[in-house]
Parts: sequence; C-alpha cells; structure tokens
Amino acid sequence: VSFSVGSTGGNATSPYQYGIMFEDINNSGDGGVYAELIQNRAFQGNDVYPSNTTAYWNPLGSAEISVQNLSTPLSAALPTSLQVTASGSGTAGFSNVGFWGFPVVAGWEYKGSFYVSGGLDGNLTVCLTSNDNVQYAEASVEVASSDEWTQYNYTFTPTVDAPNSNNTLNFTFAASDLTGSANFNLLSLFPPTYNNRENGLRIDLMEAMDGLNPSFFRAPGGNNVEGLREPYWWNWTQTIGPLTDRPGFPGTWGYENTDGLGLVEYMNWAKDLNMDIVLGVHAGYFLDGTAVPESEIQIYVQAALDELEFLTGDASTTWGAYRESLGYGPWVVNFVEVGNEDSLGGGGPTYAAYRFPAFYNAISAKYPDITIITSYYDVDGVTPPFNASGDFHEYAIPRQMADQFTYFDNYTSAHPILIGEYAIIEYDTGNKTGPEWTPGAPRAFVPFWYGSVSEAIFLLGAERNSDKMIGAAYAPGFQNLNRWEWIPDLIEFDAYPGHTTLSTSYHVIKLLSGTRITENLPIEYDGVWGPAFFVAGRNAVTGSHIAKIAVYNATEEVPFDLSFDGVGAGATGSLTYITAPMNSTNPIGGNIVETHTFTVTAARNGSFTFELPPYSVAILEIGAA
Ligand code: AHR
Repeated sequence: VSFSVGSTGGNATSPYQYGIMFEDINNSGDGGVYAELIQNRAFQGNDVYPSNTTAYWNPLGSAEISVQNLSTPLSAALPTSLQVTASGSGTAGFSNVGFWGFPVVAGWEYKGSFYVSGGLDGNLTVCLTSNDNVQYAEASVEVASSDEWTQYNYTFTPTVDAPNSNNTLNFTFAASDLTGSANFNLLSLFPPTYNNRENGLRIDLMEAMDGLNPSFFRAPGGNNVEGLREPYWWNWTQTIGPLTDRPGFPGTWGYENTDGLGLVEYMNWAKDLNMDIVLGVHAGYFLDGTAVPESEIQIYVQAALDELEFLTGDASTTWGAYRESLGYGPWVVNFVEVGNEDSLGGGGPTYAAYRFPAFYNAISAKYPDITIITSYYDVDGVTPPFNASGDFHEYAIPRQMADQFTYFDNYTSAHPILIGEYAIIEYDTGNKTGPEWTPGAPRAFVPFWYGSVSEAIFLLGAERNSDKMIGAAYAPGFQNLNRWEWIPDLIEFDAYPGHTTLSTSYHVIKLLSGTRITENLPIEYDGVWGPAFFVAGRNAVTGSHIAKIAVYNATEEVPFDLSFDGVGAGATGSLTYITAPMNSTNPIGGNIVETHTFTVTAARNGSFTFELPPYSVAILEIGAA
C-alpha cells in the first residue's frame, strides 16, 4: 500500500474527536464508578422498585431487621429506614453484602457514616469481614441514640489485601445496649476516591477513562435520561444537594439509582478528566411511549433552562445562587443534547413537530453559543433542523462497521455529528448478502479483536471527516460482572479491583485518541480501501505529521510505503501498532492486545516503509516536538 500526504488543502478537525458516554446501566453508576460500597444504603424505592425491602442486608446474632416508614423519618426524601430489634445478652447487629462483595485493600483509608435514632446506647463496631470470618478492619463508634436522628462517622484502614471480594460489612453491638429498637439510615462506606473527592468516584475506573484521553462527556446519556414512565424522568433537581435530599430514581435498567451520583458529581467527573460536558436533558418522552403533549412541554423546557442556570448562572440567579451555596463556581456548558434516540418508540413525530423546537428555541434564545444536539440522526436523509447538530448511534456487526469508512464523506459540515454511541455487538454472521443485524441473535459477551479493528475503521472514517464531526463515544462504557443488562461493554469490573478489564476496543480508542490530528491533510492514493484504511494530517501543537492506519481482513502482513510532503530523507519518528489474534477477547483482569513501538526513519526518497499485521491499528508520528 503506497500513498503520499499533501501539505496544503487540509481542514481543521474537531477539538473533541473522542469522548465518553455514560448512563447508569449494568450497575455502572451505583456499584460501579460511584465509589459507594454499601448496596441499598438508604432503602430507596418507589412504585417501580419497592422500598420496603431489606435486600442486601442480613441480621447478625439475635437481631431481627425490618424496614419501617417512621413518623419521624431521616428526611422527606429518605422516608424508609432499617429497624433493628434484639434479645438476650449476646451480640446483635446486621451486615451488608455490598455490591456483590467489598474490596479490601491494604493501606486504603475507608470512610464511613450512618444515621441512627431510637434506643441504642453503647459501643457499635463496624467491621470489614470475610465470609470465612477474617476481620480485615474495624472501627468502634460510641452511640448514644435518641428520638432525633444523629449522624456518626467512622474510618478504618486494612493492613492486608483480601484475596477476593467475598467480604461483608458488619455492624454489631451488645444486645443488652438496645432498648426497644434502633433505626438506621444512609449507611455509607467509601474507599479512597479519585482526586480525593467526597462522595466521589472509583479510582481505577476513573484512571481507565483518563487513559482514553477523552475530550467530551455525554451524560446522562442513553435510555436512563428518558425514564420508564411518568413521573419518573432524570429529574436533575433531585440529584443535587445533601444526600439526605436525594430520593433516588427508578433507573431504566432494572434497578434503583440512588442518585448519589448526580449532576454535580457528573460535572466534577468531567472536570477531573478534562472533558466538556454534553449535557443530556429530558425531552418530554418516556420509554413507555408517552410523549408529553404540546400544552405541557414547557414544564420540561423550563427544567432544562433551570438546569443550565444552575450549572452556568452567577450568584444573582436563583439556581446559580443555590449552586454557589453548595460550594461550586459556574461550569461551562458548550453542548446540550435533547433526549435520547427520540426517533424510536413512536416519539419521532412529536419530537420533530413540537418537542425539539420548543427546547431549541428556548435554549438558543438564552444561550446562543451552546450547540444543541438532536437525539437522533439519519445521516443518509434528514438533517437536523435549525442550526442543530445530531447524535448518530451505530450498533453493528464488524462487516457493517468496516464498510462505513466513507460513510460520512458526503455529509455537510453545517450540522456536525456526534457519534454518541457506537459498538460492535455481534460477530459477523458469515452471510455476505443477507441482513446485517438480526435482533435477538446472540451477542458477544465482550469486545473481540476483529470487531474492535472494524470499529477503528469506523472511527478513522469519522476522523477523515472530522470537520463534520463533534466526536465519538463507545457505549456502554461499563459492565458490572455481577449484574448487567447490556453486552458487550468497554470496561468490565466487579468489586475486586484485580478484575477490572480493559477490552480490546478500549485499546483501539486509547491509541487513536492518544495522538490527535488537528489538521487533516489530503492523501494521494490510487488503491482501493481495504485491507488498509488510513487518515493523515498534522498536529499543530507538537508540529508532528501523523498517519493513522487500520488493517482489516488481510491474510498476511501488509507492506506500507508512505511519504509526507515537506518531510525529507532522514526524518525520524515512531510507529506504534497494536494487534491481537483475530477472534480473541481480553480475559478478566488481563490483556491480549500487544503494543509494538519502533523508531522509523525516512529513506532517501523521503518514504517510510514498514509492515503491519493482518488485523492491526497503527499510528505513525513523525517529528513530534
Ligand atoms: O447503550 C445502551 C442503550 O443503547 C442506550 O441506553 C440507548 O441509547 C441505546 O439504544
């Protein structure tokens, strides 16, 4: 494969290009990125997921436990609490099973707290204990409870690692210290968090995302922003402020969301990873197919305007002042996405007719610099109305994905595309002419290498049209190995840190996003696309010349010979390629993706020659400062 890269006639690329999409699916928020370790910590629920449950809690010793709605609840938002009674003179208490176990890591300082009311007067021990009774760390709390709710804090630091996450958190006391009953609520335990934030995020998962060099953060994205049915939508007002004021939300993926991971936490997440928020707002459409009538749509439009005021307004505004009272200065919001996949489920006509226009008109009037994004996109046909951008989702099989290298070539730069979700979800069928995707066909459990390379081709297709793009995000980002609804996912994890697994697709994004082309340059190439696909350009910051290459479906190593206009004999740079066996997947906690890096030097005629394996993704970078 031989090609040359020109030095003029290119175009500026999007400064975003690669990002992260997040919704709480697969217990990726609660039990995932949100670092809280206690499951069902505040007995939240509603008529979708009942709150009258002691799920994930077990009695210890002589205790009996139940949930109660007391006449004096902890707060209006958290009306249900755990009631404990006990008899005899032995030990009593209760334990939590965590999000399918607890991580125990030597040297971690865990910080916990709980609220109690009722008749407990004495010492309460909180202990991180293995299922075979190894006590890894404990704290002692002197409790003198009364009819008033009181908060107690505790900390402990294990001195050894547990070999697995088969551990519980036990709360015990002498039964004789209990008169009548005691009530507990908002029982919490956090390990160290990313950037040491209170109510923060899990370090290894944040570090994994940071490794992708992401530039934007689409959140809350996906179905979860829509809500199952009225009145349940991702109501941002219920996700801010003290945890005692957050009632929780019946997530759309089969479990309650605590909303401990709320709007402010999303903004901190974006800030900590240096990403611009692509803010998802509810668009007046619920997953049961209900579209809010035109006469009521302003309620949701106003909620979006209030949300923007909360995030960006100064202290003279109502919501800006509230944000300041929480200790936060204004954030910057450059993108708002209205809804999610509103073309599906019958919502499309109302979206086009009045829902999207109502949001667009109101938001653009007040925030003319914000890019407003429609939640669906038909690249082949309908372009978004007004000056809007559009969110294009692509879930496909590898053959279909690899075919899309030129998909965006004839598109306009007037309505830049956000690829808000993409992923290979199934293996190729082997059927070269039949339907590309069969609903219900078995999915891949995790990304696999040839699928990941086909995603690289799709991403390079976006890069070659980067003047028409905002950027691309894989979806979903995470899979909790203990409870998941959607496969495959970018990163797998469970409570045991050693099980965090960065998929083959993760490694593709890491490579492509880690080196950015800021100006695409024209390529002179006489051949056909495939098995080699490539883009080329310059990076204005480092001054380097860059070629990004994917090799797919080749039967042997593919030789390359390429040159850059303006790069002469003897110029040096580096070639990095990643490769793996065609059909392989990353095992739990492991990695089969090999990375090879070489120094390359231009020959006398100025060309760089090298070979790449049959399924590989490569970056050639010359002259980086
Ligand atoms: O990413 C999983 C789901 O796929 C999202 O919730 C939805 O937007 C899409 O259909």
